[in-house]
Amino acid sequence: MFYPQNVIDDVRMGNDIIDVINKYTTLKQRGSNYFGLCPFHKEKSPSFSVSPDKQLYYCFGCGASGNVISFIMQKENYDFVETVKFLAQRINYTLPQEQYSNEAKEKNEIKNQLYEIHKKAARHFYDNLNSKLGETAVKYLDKRNIIINIRRKYGLGYSFFKNDLYKFLKDNGYNDDIILESGLVLRDKNGGFYDRFINRLMFPIIDVQGRIIGFGGRSLDTSESGRKTPKYLNSPDTPIFNKSHNLYSINFARNSKTREFILVEGYMDVISLYQAGFHNAVAALGTAFNENHANALKRYADKVILLFDSDDAGEKAVLRAIPVLVASGIYPKVMQVTNAKDPDEFINKYGAKEFASLLSGSKSYISFQIKAKLKEYDLNDISQRIDFTKQAAKIISTLTSPIEREAFIKETAEITSLSFESINKEIKSIDNAAEINLNSKKYNIKKYKQSSVGVDDARRSIINICASDRLIGKKIMKILKPKELIEDIYVKALEMIFEIYQKEEVVYPAELVSCFQSIEEQRKISDIFMLNYNFENDEAVQNAVNDQLRLIKRTYIDNEILKISQKPDKSDFDASEINRLYNERRNIYSLNIMLS
Ligand code: CTP
Ligand code: MN
Repeated sequence: MFYPQNVIDDVRMGNDIIDVINKYTTLKQRGSNYFGLCPFHKEKSPSFSVSPDKQLYYCFGCGASGNVISFIMQKENYDFVETVKFLAQRINYTLPQEQYSNEAKEKNEIKNQLYEIHKKAARHFYDNLNSKLGETAVKYLDKRNIIINIRRKYGLGYSFFKNDLYKFLKDNGYNDDIILESGLVLRDKNGGFYDRFINRLMFPIIDVQGRIIGFGGRSLDTSESGRKTPKYLNSPDTPIFNKSHNLYSINFARNSKTREFILVEGYMDVISLYQAGFHNAVAALGTAFNENHANALKRYADKVILLFDSDDAGEKAVLRAIPVLVASGIYPKVMQVTNAKDPDEFINKYGAKEFASLLSGSKSYISFQIKAKLKEYDLNDISQRIDFTKQAAKIISTLTSPIEREAFIKETAEITSLSFESINKEIKSIDNAAEINLNSKKYNIKKYKQSSVGVDDARRSIINICASDRLIGKKIMKILKPKELIEDIYVKALEMIFEIYQKEEVVYPAELVSCFQSIEEQRKISDIFMLNYNFENDEAVQNAVNDQLRLIKRTYIDNEILKISQKPDKSDFDASEINRLYNERRNIYSLNIMLS
C-alpha cells in the first residue's frame, strides 16, 4: 500500500518540521538551528537539534534522526501510511485513494486467509469446549472459577486430539500450504498432518483491531511434576502473529477508559482480573517484556503497574521491564501480591476488594529499584552503607522532577540515616558528570564524522556531497555507478539523487528520507545529511572526494572478485572477467577527478 511520491512530498512540505515538533518539545532558535529537550529520551540539557533548512532533526544524545514523517512515526507509533494520513489531516490535505502493488496484494491475501483460519479455528475450539468431549476442560474452568460470560468474552475453547483441527480446516476448503502457514498444524516424519494443540484449554490471542492472530493452549494436566508436555504452548510466529509485539487482552484493555494499565505474567491472571472488574490488564505472551510491547502500550497507557509473580523470577522480570517502560515514556509502578503466588490466586483467595486496596498501594519504580538494591547490602557495615547510598543516588539521578527527587532522597536518607544534604550533593555530582559526558559525546560525533576512514563513512560522505553540491554531484555522476555503493539503502539513495540531477532538479534531504518507509532506513539516510564537513579549502574537498571514490570503487571490485572466486561451480569460472576486474582495480589508483 503506498501513495505516489509527489503526494508524500506535498504532505511533508506542508508540515513544517519546527511547527510539528514544537508541539512535542519546546524548541529555541540558536544560530541556524533549533534546540530542545529530546522527545525520544530523558535528558536535562537540550541535545536535540532541528534544522529548518534541511527539515531534519538529530539528537546528539540518543542518535534519533529523521524528517517530519519519521518523527510522527516514532512519536505516535504510527506506520508510514498512518503517518501520511495524520499529517495530511493536520493541513487539510485531501489524499488520493490508496494504491496497492501486486506484491502487497498477494501478501494481503495470505494474511486475510490466515485471519479467517484463526477465526474459524477459534469457533471450532469453542464448539469443542461445549460438546460432550469438552467436559474435562469445562470442569477445569469451573474449578478455576471462570464464569460462563467471561469464558465467552475471551473465546476460551478446547483442542481435541490428533488432527481434529486439520480435518476441520480441510473440510472448510483450505489447502495444506496455508494451513501449515497458520502454525496450527504441523507435519510429521511420514508427511502426515497433526495439530499443534492437543487436549488443551485454548486462549485465542486477539490484536488491537479485534482479529484473532494466534493461540495459547494450557495443558489440562494439573500435576506440576510429571507433566509430559509444557504447561503452556503458544502459536509460533506467522505473517499475522509476532509474540514479541503482541499483548494478551490489549483489545479489551484499550477500551478500559483509564491510561493506567496493569501488566501481569499469565493468561489466567488477565482473565481473573477482568472477571473481578479490572479491565485494564494485559500480559506479554510468555516472552520478556520488550520495546515493541512498550510501543504497543504507548498508544493507550501513560502508566503501567507491573504486577508479576511473587517470586525471584518475577522480581527480576520487573527490574528488567522498568527501563524498557521508562525509555518509551511510560511511567512504571510496581506491586506484588502477598500470600499468593500470582494475581489470579490472590483474587480467588481474597477477592476483588482486597485486590483493589493492594493496587492503590503500588509503589513508584524508583522505590522498587532502591529496595531491590538494598537486598545486596548490609547497612550495619559502614562501607556497604556508603556503597548502597551511592547506588541509590544513581537511581534517583535518573529523575528530572525536583519534587520526585526530594521524595526519594528523603526515603533513602531514612533508610541509611545519612543526611538529605549529602545525598542531594551526591546526586548533583552525578548530574555534572553526565553533563561532561554528553559534551564529550557531542565532540566525538563531530570528530569521528570528519575523519572518514571506513568505507561506510566514504559512502555516506559521497552521498552527502553529491546531494548538497549540484556541480560536484554531476561530476561524480559521470564516474560512479550507484551499485558501486553495494549497500541497498545507499544504492537507492544515490540512484535517486542522480535521477533528480538528470531532470535538472534540486535535491531536498528531507524528500530523500521519505522515500524510505522504515524508521531504521529513514534514520540511516537522514543521518547522512546531518554530517557537516568543514573543509579548509577546495583542494581539501577535492582530495577527500577522490580518496573516498577510490575506496568505494576498490571495495566494490574486491567484492566482485570475491563473488566470482566463491562460485561453487568452477566450470563457468570466467578468467577474462577476473582479468578485467584486476585491470580496473589497478586503474583506480590513478583516478582523480577535478572538481573545480
Ligand atoms: N508461559 C508460556 N509457556 C510456558 C510457561 C508459561 O508461554 N511454558 C506463559 C503463559 O502466558 C503463562 C505465563 O507465562 O500464562 C505465566 O506462566 P506461569 O506462571 O507458569 O503460569 P500461570 O499463569 O500461573 O498458569 P496457571 O495459573 O494456569 O497455572
Ligand atoms: Mn497462575
